Amino acid sequence: MTTAAPLLQVQGLQVAYGTPAAPVPVVRGVSFTLGREKLAVVGESGSGKTTVGRALLKLLPQQARISAERLQFDGVDLLQAGERDMQALRGRRLSMIMQDPKYSLNPVMSIGRQIGEAVQRDGKVQRAECDERVEALLARVRIREPKRVAAQYPHEVSGGMGQRVMIAMMLAQRPQLLIADEPTSALDVSVRQEVLGLLDELVAEQGLALLFISHDLNLVKHFCDRVLVMYAGRIVETLAAADLRQASHPYTRGLMASLPSLRHPRAVLPVLQRDAAWSAA
Ligand SMILES: Nc1ncnc2c1ncn2[C@@H]1O[C@H](COP(=O)(O)OP(=O)(O)OP(=O)(O)O)[C@@H](O)[C@H]1O
Ligand SMILES: [Mg+2]
Repeated sequence: MTTAAPLLQVQGLQVAYGTPAAPVPVVRGVSFTLGREKLAVVGESGSGKTTVGRALLKLLPQQARISAERLQFDGVDLLQAGERDMQALRGRRLSMIMQDPKYSLNPVMSIGRQIGEAVQRDGKVQRAECDERVEALLARVRIREPKRVAAQYPHEVSGGMGQRVMIAMMLAQRPQLLIADEPTSALDVSVRQEVLGLLDELVAEQGLALLFISHDLNLVKHFCDRVLVMYAGRIVETLAAADLRQASHPYTRGLMASLPSLRHPRAVLPVLQRDAAWSAA
């Protein structure tokens, strides 16, 4: 028996802004595979995490130039896929919860209608049934008073609610792969645990593959299976989440050392000392 190829294969992904004559590379040869697991992407602000996620969905601004040796998703060559092919994939099979939900939601359409559209994409249903499903999805992401929230517009909900609305839209379509960009950063601790529990359930029960972009090393250490550590557009280390404390790259070690710990309180937390060699080719 041959082993099945991983759901997602990324080889030598590069993204550059600027002009062809003066390119500004922001993702510089990223390679990884993703199966039915929780894979974290960590790294400091500007290291290219969101750009990698958006490149997979081909949702980068027009001036961005993407190249790769391989970008394969469940038998589909994403490099060859045109906008029409991507539209058929987005949401249904390949989904992303954006870091800035407020900008990703349509400002002139009620929350309920937006989730309703996602519900309808799965197969047409009557209005009443659609409304019912929308409210059930909002309740599933722990939004109280789902009927009231469904009638609201994006500017009327908080950041944390916006994130949960995005998650509800994703749940309506049951993708195979979910890229979650800081999905819990605007949530308070109790809601955060519930949303993480929901994502966990999707991975365990529906075999969802999860690419989990986060700044929060403590969270990733407990929640994810594996971790990709990015620095200046490159993956500098890939390791099991459980091994984060034994990381070998000095950048990852520096990040871990600068986390506060209740068990070992320190008066001064160390500041990460960067080395130019980390971003060298
Ligand atoms: N539209 C754009 N035009 C030019 N440069 C861009 C554009 N979008 C992003 N960049 C640059 O790409 C780099 C990577 O950005 P990206 O948003 O992927 O970082 P990130 O790791 O997600 O950061 P954060 O943790 O702050 O979300 C940054 O240096 C950023 O300035
Ligand atoms: Mg980002």
